[in-house]
Amino acid sequence: MKLPLFKLEDYLSEREFSSDIMFSGSDMEAFLMQDILKLAKSEILDIWNNLKLSYTYPLGNPLLLDELNKKYQLNNCSENICTFSGAEEGIYAALNSILNKDDHVIIFSPCYQSLKEIPNNICEVSEVQLKFLNNKCFFDISEVSRLIKPNTKMIIFNFPHNPSGTIISKEELKYLIDLSRKHGLYIFSDEVYRGLEVNHSDQLPYIASEYEKGISLGVMSKSYGMPGLRIGWLAMQDKKLLKKISNMKHYLSICNSAPSEILALISLQNEDHIYSRNLSILNNNLKLISTFFKEHDSVFEWYPPKGGCIAFPKLKLKRPVYDFCEELRIKEHIVLLPGDIFDHSHNHFRVGFGRLNMPEALSRLKRYIQTEKL
Ligand SMILES: Cc1ncc(COP(=O)(O)O)c(C=O)c1O
Repeated sequence: MKLPLFKLEDYLSEREFSSDIMFSGSDMEAFLMQDILKLAKSEILDIWNNLKLSYTYPLGNPLLLDELNKKYQLNNCSENICTFSGAEEGIYAALNSILNKDDHVIIFSPCYQSLKEIPNNICEVSEVQLKFLNNKCFFDISEVSRLIKPNTKMIIFNFPHNPSGTIISKEELKYLIDLSRKHGLYIFSDEVYRGLEVNHSDQLPYIASEYEKGISLGVMSKSYGMPGLRIGWLAMQDKKLLKKISNMKHYLSICNSAPSEILALISLQNEDHIYSRNLSILNNNLKLISTFFKEHDSVFEWYPPKGGCIAFPKLKLKRPVYDFCEELRIKEHIVLLPGDIFDHSHNHFRVGFGRLNMPEALSRLKRYIQTEKL
């Protein structure tokens, strides 16, 4: 499979580690390993101290699978859940296992590039476009039914959404499930930002628990703040499908990193602690960033996110947003992500507010605006 340049990862890899502050990161402030180990129960600490650095179970450490299954409540975690090296490998394995060249897929755009490019490389893709109106951004899900064709096989979405932070309602999700059931479609639901909803009542159920052809994608990277673990997973009711997808893993990572599995297990067992730390950073940062963008409404249009740690404001100036982000990076050493990277051409950019150094990034952005008299 020949894939096009991964614009987002390429853009960030050239800038993230050579700048002072990543101001568009889509993951929460990363935890220190020592802080995770402090949370471990004594029996898990025993496992950690005596861990053999051997190959691990193909689907994932059974203790980890059991812990994950508490979320989805599926019949048998060893047949319904498979772990992967990050969410990325899960996306690759699932979409390549399910889709064929005569299929048609509906995606929600803009989106994380692999949710679009992997299907695009295999089959026909139709897009439901993000809309912006009165400082709100949303998807009109009634468009989905109009896009369905006889060969449509799957709907792919991601809520809370990257890059906008929007979320469809529970009623809209139910509508999509009913529609998919009627047409026999798979739903691939990228749930990597689940848990970071601004209002908890907006949290959507796991698709794997709700729908027999639903596939849930989760990961330790985003809402947990542990991208360095590279532990992601897929959950689904269809055991035969899981077997087919997990076969693809034999050609990719084979198994997870053994230490990462234990660190993920400890974190999941202490999920309340992890989320309460993350939500407190998020709530604080979201207040600051919302105030900032509202105060600078001659320069920016602010679209408040409903979840996740990212938002997709618009630069109102006549200048191309790509140039704005580049100049800001050179002058203030902070990295924003222009919408061009998502093939979105309306002068929006992605900003991240999950990190502890976000207030400093905000003050550098403010200084830039004042110095340049924007
Ligand atoms: C929506 C979405 N899905 C999947 C991924 C990939 O996650 P990971 O880095 O954990 O593989 C990302 C990363 O930014 C993402 O934003």
